Amino acid sequence: MSTPSHSNPVPEPVPQLDLAAQYAAISAEIRTAVERVMGSQQFVLGREGTALEDEIAALCGVAHGVGLASGTDALILALRACGVQAGDEELLPPFTFVATGSAVSALGAKPVFADIRPDTYNMDPAELERRVTPRTRAIVAVHLYGLAADMDPILAFAKARKLPVIEDNAQAIGASYKGRRTGSLGDAACLSFYPTKNLGAYGDAGMVVTNSPELAERVRTLRNHGQTGKYLSSEPGWNSRLDEMQAAILRVKLRYLSNWQGARQSHAAEYNRLFSQIPGVMPPHVPERFEHVYHQYTIRVEFRDALQAFLSERKIGSTVYYPYPLHLQPLYKSLGHKLRDFPHAERAAQEVLSLPMYPELRNEQIARVAEAVGEFLKC
Ligand SMILES: Cc1ncc(COP(=O)(O)O)c(C=O)c1O
Repeated sequence: MSTPSHSNPVPEPVPQLDLAAQYAAISAEIRTAVERVMGSQQFVLGREGTALEDEIAALCGVAHGVGLASGTDALILALRACGVQAGDEELLPPFTFVATGSAVSALGAKPVFADIRPDTYNMDPAELERRVTPRTRAIVAVHLYGLAADMDPILAFAKARKLPVIEDNAQAIGASYKGRRTGSLGDAACLSFYPTKNLGAYGDAGMVVTNSPELAERVRTLRNHGQTGKYLSSEPGWNSRLDEMQAAILRVKLRYLSNWQGARQSHAAEYNRLFSQIPGVMPPHVPERFEHVYHQYTIRVEFRDALQAFLSERKIGSTVYYPYPLHLQPLYKSLGHKLRDFPHAERAAQEVLSLPMYPELRNEQIARVAEAVGEFLKC
């Protein structure tokens, strides 16, 4: 005779990101958009791309958008359009995705790091004075995890030295800083539509947004082989054109972005509420008049690697963004940095952990994550 099993059911996994849940909700509209592009048989630099450029520029509160093949290209071309050349120095934070630095290196310029603030993980404006040299040519401010860098002092520093400021807004579309949208704060801003971003394509895509007609025109020329007329090139450029399929997909998703952002913010509030009862967890710090869009919900804890393993055993996804600060990457060995050069970036790299965060996340999943973190910290 078989006996009924009373063992606990295996809890449902909580992934760090669930793009399939998002696709399930919008697949009919996506398919219609893709069909529309197929019907037009125009795949590069067409109506969808132009419409997306206008829509994203409006969202960021600027006059121009230039669609590109990736966020990395957006950084490279924005820097190039601002006049960055081989041998120049660029100030940027060491705690970011490697693309922020490698875009500078791609132009033969040198990344010069300015440490981050330990509470926001973004560039500390007070560090700029220590790092600037006569060779400094631009500043790249990153809005990490969906939270703006403290732009007013960065912009004031740049203005006094006539340096352009590029916002790396890859992770913070829709965020705002003292009532102004990220993307509208510097001379130009770069967006990434990498699939995992808050507004993600189904492949690679990116954009430069700016209020400057000259910078927009320069990027437009550079993305298409430096052509200023049909088969007439005035300088070496790239092929970095946004394709119509991605633009059409992004236009569908853009209509949902504000709702998705609201959902991320309410999930963050729920995590914050639960973590306020768990000592040992530092939730994201959001300064007054900053609006965080929670591309990532990133906590800080001691014994981070052990916590990650503990969560993984319980089928809870988490990711370390980023385990190696740029100055300690093998890529930048030649810069001669050593441990303790940028202590706040190094400590963040040891202690941060990004927890499950996506619009479709449910409160019971958040509760399960917080409970597991609490259980670990009690051990
Ligand atoms: C901070 C940051 N900068 C730049 C990039 C580069 O964007 P992409 O992957 O679209 O080239 C990314 C994303 O991957 C990013 O997170």
